[in-house]
Amino acid sequence: GAPVEVDISKLEPGQLIRVEWRGKPVWVVKRTQNTLDELSAIGEQLRDPSSEEPQQPESCQNEFRSQKPDIFVAVGLCTHLGCSPTYLPDSFGEQVQGVKSGFFCPCHGSKFDMAGRVFQGVPAPLNLVIPPYTFVEETTILVG
Ligand code: FES
Repeated sequence: GAPVEVDISKLEPGQLIRVEWRGKPVWVVKRTQNTLDELSAIGEQLRDPSSEEPQQPESCQNEFRSQKPDIFVAVGLCTHLGCSPTYLPDSFGEQVQGVKSGFFCPCHGSKFDMAGRVFQGVPAPLNLVIPPYTFVEETTILVG
């Protein structure tokens, strides 16, 4: 499939936009500073906090799993059996103690943080996949 261009010029903090790439949903989320602070603090509740499994391009092998800290790009498919998790921008507290926002898979209850890292004790074995992408301009991403 061809690369997909995503215009993020109107993306508001906390907002998620969804595009399709190679038949898969790809999310682009603008994370707030609070979310970034939270990501740095979650650590031990996660199965693979440093993303040692190669679920991301090398350019995203960092604590936020992204090229720019505030912009998060991920394939929106659960690594268990491929359902699409629900974005919970500010109501994750009921799902995971002490964590405000994340992604919840309605199929079998897997939970991922705002970097797509899987929490412990759920069926999904791996962090969400980060697709290859580049910034062609400050506010335009090319996925693929
Ligand atoms: Fe997401 Fe099973 S497909 S938890």
